[in-house]
Amino acid sequence: MGIIYHSKSGEFHLFNDEVSYIIIILENGQLGQLYYGERVADRESFGHLLELQARPMAPCTFAGDLAFSMEHIKQEYPSYGHGDMRNPAYEILQKNGSRVSEFVYRGYRIYPGKPVLEGLPATYTEDNCEADTLEIVLQDEVMDTELVLSYTIFKNYAAIARNARFTCQSRNEIILEEAMSASVDLPDRDFEMIELTGAWARERAVKTRRLEHGVQSIYSMRGCSSNNYNPFIALKRPNTDENNGEVYGFSLVYSGNFLAQAEVDTYDVTRVMMGIHPRGFSWTLKEGESFQTPEAVFVYSSKGLNKMSQVYHELYRTRLARGKWRDEVRPILINNWEATYFNFNEDKILTIAEKAKTLGIELFVLDDGWFGKRDDDTSSLGDWYPDLDKLPDGISGIAEKINKLGMKFGLWFEPEMVNKDSDLYRRYPQWLLETPDRQSSHGRNQFVLDFSKSEVVDHIYGMMEKILSEAAVSYVKWDMNRCMTEVYSTGMDAEYQGKVMHRYILGVYDLYDRLTKRFPEVLFESCASGGARFDPGMMYYAPQCWTSDDTDAVERLKIQYGTSMVYPLSSMGAHVSAVPNHQLLRSTPLNTRANVAYFGTFGYELDLNTLTGEEQKEVAEQVAFMKEYRKLIQQGTFYRLVSPFEDNGNVTAWMVVSDDKKEALVGYYRTLQEVNTGYRRLKLRGLDECLSYQVTIKKEITVKDTVTHGGDELMHVGLFVSDASSGENHEKYNGSNGDYQSRLYILKAENM
Ligand code: DGJ
Repeated sequence: MGIIYHSKSGEFHLFNDEVSYIIIILENGQLGQLYYGERVADRESFGHLLELQARPMAPCTFAGDLAFSMEHIKQEYPSYGHGDMRNPAYEILQKNGSRVSEFVYRGYRIYPGKPVLEGLPATYTEDNCEADTLEIVLQDEVMDTELVLSYTIFKNYAAIARNARFTCQSRNEIILEEAMSASVDLPDRDFEMIELTGAWARERAVKTRRLEHGVQSIYSMRGCSSNNYNPFIALKRPNTDENNGEVYGFSLVYSGNFLAQAEVDTYDVTRVMMGIHPRGFSWTLKEGESFQTPEAVFVYSSKGLNKMSQVYHELYRTRLARGKWRDEVRPILINNWEATYFNFNEDKILTIAEKAKTLGIELFVLDDGWFGKRDDDTSSLGDWYPDLDKLPDGISGIAEKINKLGMKFGLWFEPEMVNKDSDLYRRYPQWLLETPDRQSSHGRNQFVLDFSKSEVVDHIYGMMEKILSEAAVSYVKWDMNRCMTEVYSTGMDAEYQGKVMHRYILGVYDLYDRLTKRFPEVLFESCASGGARFDPGMMYYAPQCWTSDDTDAVERLKIQYGTSMVYPLSSMGAHVSAVPNHQLLRSTPLNTRANVAYFGTFGYELDLNTLTGEEQKEVAEQVAFMKEYRKLIQQGTFYRLVSPFEDNGNVTAWMVVSDDKKEALVGYYRTLQEVNTGYRRLKLRGLDECLSYQVTIKKEITVKDTVTHGGDELMHVGLFVSDASSGENHEKYNGSNGDYQSRLYILKAENM
């Protein structure tokens, strides 16, 4: 790994074993992009890649030179209005009304390690040898404003983290109307764009589309990263699949409004950029003030999508998530939400907890409804003190009783929200985000607190700190159940309003920061109506996130498969819930529900007392199984094998392999029973070709014996996964055929 500056050619070459990224200082002092892709050997100059060619009608920079045109030069952080006709990475409104700018090279710094981004989540290093950072300093003389573009290249990951920082040095203030985190121009358009899209209860479906001329983008303007689009896109070559071919991933470490965009110009150059969505964003900078963008993380893979995802998984699991829980296996929990909704009292909670304890579950999570007078969703958000009618001994009382059973206790909050029927609102009505003289929309009967104001964040911190310090709470589920509308900060001036959306997210990060510092032992799980804020920004504070409100096993295959495009299994909250499922009314076998939920941070979300004795025995066995395998699952290398988004989606398969390749777990899921089908083989990945593996099907009724196969055979020939029955002998195969079936294969290298 290294960053080399070639002073003669004015080129920076960032590289590690996998990837090269080359930047040139152009003749006009701006930054050009020469190459981003598979590692190439360093040389004094790659200037020949500039492709300067005179083109009719092009706006040209230098008198008499028809070749040098910003319209045609591939750039690092382009502006509009000064030759380039494509969408810019930033825009600055100046006092005289002009938006033209020209940041030119002033100098650079290269140093080991990676600095923190003050107030913002970001990847980090633990040791300076893990990464090198390049900062390129640019200046616009007319505006007297500095721009620093930062690039960190990691040693062990084909990943480059980027951000931009603007500092106004002039007495004339400037208004930043757009400031992307990063932009890069790629020399062709032979790509397909992958995005993760959906809606509530069907988050992060994998969508792939061919890049065409013009702009293709995904975005959120909801105030959260959203369950509609995730702040991630990838550009893959058309022939790239999970295991082969070139792909570029772009992920934004941010939890608010974002834009991720690929623009293909009519010369087939592809410009990718991502950052805070410019709509509603307008950031005034006075003399001496800076604006820091969030971080964007680029990952390059020449070995397909699995490799790209594995880089994100490991980087985000070990160098984005932080704290005590980063490297720990996660507790197996029971959450009362789908068991009781708002309708519970202490006795009810304790009967669920007692049963959970006897089955080996480690953590009880008390969800929504424990505070104020909240018997439905119309009241009490903001009143973070216990409802003594439901919990006569308060939170410390119930926590103590759960602890006495031998379980840890966890608690739900929705810190950013308020109901109008609450003491908090009655006391501080001005703390709502609402536009003067306009009607305010509600979402789930609730309103958004103005987290752009520090006094609001301070107040909520005080309430949460009191509960968490008085009661033995080991886990917090931080929910957020509506998007933002009529955004306006009461009492603040017009200029401030363009800052509110971003300042709100900074307020959320600040509260997370204070709470995680004050309670370093507590495990935080983020949540936003399920997965509406499943993003890297949240992972910095909360190492796990509730993946979706949809707990149906079949739907979860798609949701967890799509989520794995970027996010590690250790971050995905996955629970076994009741049947018929509450979102779809579908009934799937208990075994399949667990086989899906194992691939995440495992738990239950139902009243275990309603299960039969047989089912309870099965739950106890599942819990014991997860305890044995959770380290492998949550910290191993994950491979997607068969996609629920391809063919007819009837089969999904994935697997996880230990670092030493001696253990693996394969999940195979077949949604609908088919009749009279052919033999099927599943090619496994990531095994050691030279090892032999004992393959056992977990709890498969018809297969008693463990069979042995070579790692090479399992990967190149495949594992035989045909259904035992296709329309006959249903008694003989009772329990292992029919709809919604699944199998877990446990692989162990022989002579371990
Ligand atoms: C939405 C969450 O995703 C659910 O798990 C649950 O906590 C409810 N909110 C409670 O209101």
